[in-house]
Amino acid sequence: MTVTVVGIGGSVRSDSQSERALHGALAGAREAGAKVHAITGSNLVLPFYDPLVTERTDNARDLVEALRAADGIVLSSPGYHGTVSGLVKNALDYVEDLRDDDRPYLEGRAVGCIGAAYGWQATVTTMQALRSVVHALRGWPTPLGAAVNSAETQMGPGGDCADAKVAANLRTIGRQVVEFAQQRQV
Ligand SMILES: Cc1cc2nc3c(=O)[nH]c(=O)nc-3n(C[C@H](O)[C@H](O)[C@H](O)COP(=O)(O)O)c2cc1C
Repeated sequence: MTVTVVGIGGSVRSDSQSERALHGALAGAREAGAKVHAITGSNLVLPFYDPLVTERTDNARDLVEALRAADGIVLSSPGYHGTVSGLVKNALDYVEDLRDDDRPYLEGRAVGCIGAAYGWQATVTTMQALRSVVHALRGWPTPLGAAVNSAETQMGPGGDCADAKVAANLRTIGRQVVEFAQQRQV
């Protein structure tokens, strides 16, 4: 069975560094045989999650349905003031809509986490913050995460990167997400 990997992240500005890093990891998932689907940029613009509001915008419905169907996930956030951006965190708050599923929240799914910031400190704290969210959502952070420092490395369109180590790191994350999903399908 083909594995489906959903990537979420980036900033509102399309083709941001964090979005490009996400595409780098999704390329690794694709190379490992997965069907990939990225939800980025303006598609992440959602109303603030309110547990008392049940109506969903088209963007919110698409996000929740994509996560519900996903066999694996990749998250990529810019580091804003040392942590996950509000845009990405608000999108993750919508995982609450999966609480009553047979497979609640992100249960049973591997989740690759990428922090992209303009310095080492925020890249690492952002990646770590994403991992904490994934634990809270019952997902399995991949063994390898990525800290992409845009002060030292520029991601290119489509997730290419002149720094071979960063490119390989991102691709490995995508591959690890797929391998975990394949192991659970056996
Ligand atoms: C509101 C805001 C807060 C930011 N805070 C930090 C920070 O605390 N540390 C840091 O290294 N970079 C910080 N940055 C820079 C971004 O993390 C950096 O541009 C990175 O490349 C990811 O942004 P992008 O995905 O939008 O390109 C901040 C940027 C903005 C817009």
